[in-house]
Amino acid sequence: MNDISKLLSQIDGGIVLDAATGKGEFISVLKTHLKSYIQIIGVDNAERNVDYAQKVFPENDIEIYKMNLEDLQFEVEYFDLVCISNSLHHLEKRDNAVLEMLRVLKPGGTILITEMYCDGIQTPAQQTHIKMHHWLSGVDRLLGVYHQETYKKEELVSFAKTLGLKETNIVDFYTPVDNPIKNCESLVRNCKDTLKKLESIANSEDLIKEGKEMLVRLSEIGCASASRVLITGHKPKNK
Ligand SMILES: C[S@@+](CC[C@H](N)C(=O)[O-])C[C@H]1O[C@@H](n2cnc3c(N)ncnc32)[C@H](O)[C@@H]1O
Repeated sequence: MNDISKLLSQIDGGIVLDAATGKGEFISVLKTHLKSYIQIIGVDNAERNVDYAQKVFPENDIEIYKMNLEDLQFEVEYFDLVCISNSLHHLEKRDNAVLEMLRVLKPGGTILITEMYCDGIQTPAQQTHIKMHHWLSGVDRLLGVYHQETYKKEELVSFAKTLGLKETNIVDFYTPVDNPIKNCESLVRNCKDTLKKLESIANSEDLIKEGKEMLVRLSEIGCASASRVLITGHKPKNK
């Protein structure tokens, strides 16, 4: 297992795109750990996330825009580094979005994909994260929001191989936690809020049952980040 901070500390980011930035969680990681960067641009198609991230990053070298990944408003070959973290499984038209991400990447530039996976040997606390994610994705789907369950590692590796990158590097990493039960206060809050929301939604009985079991699991086993893959590769110079 590797530490993502060590891997990022070897990358000069240049002009960086964080695709599907959400609330900018991965921008914080990039900002802290990249060896260097000139500018980081985060894009997301959810207005409330964009509004939030714009407030989190007031600095001049970080910009956040509302934009659909399937139709990026940037010139071809604009970015040196294009990243997508924890978001592939949110993309309804994943392949179109990734083609756009490659279009705006310079030849020789780096694409970086990180995504949690659900298989392999993972601790009971990591299994909680995976179960919680499956539950929350089920809630989103009931509400009509596109959200797949978690990929298997091999699905991510196979997907990376379809991108035609040069020098593809695939590594595992996870963020260890000292106390998995203490680690989950915000997840317990999220679980309780989601359960409250489900009470007023039709056909939610199974998800309510699952959510109540999740609360018990969080208090007995706790939670730790699931294992993730970090995939990097370069866009071929002639592509
Ligand atoms: C899990 S969140 C982002 C997580 C964040 N990148 C991180 O590393 O923690 C997934 C995001 O994908 C965004 N998203 C889904 N489809 C999108 C699309 N077609 N274009 C832009 N953003 C999209 C959602 O709005 C959501 O904010």
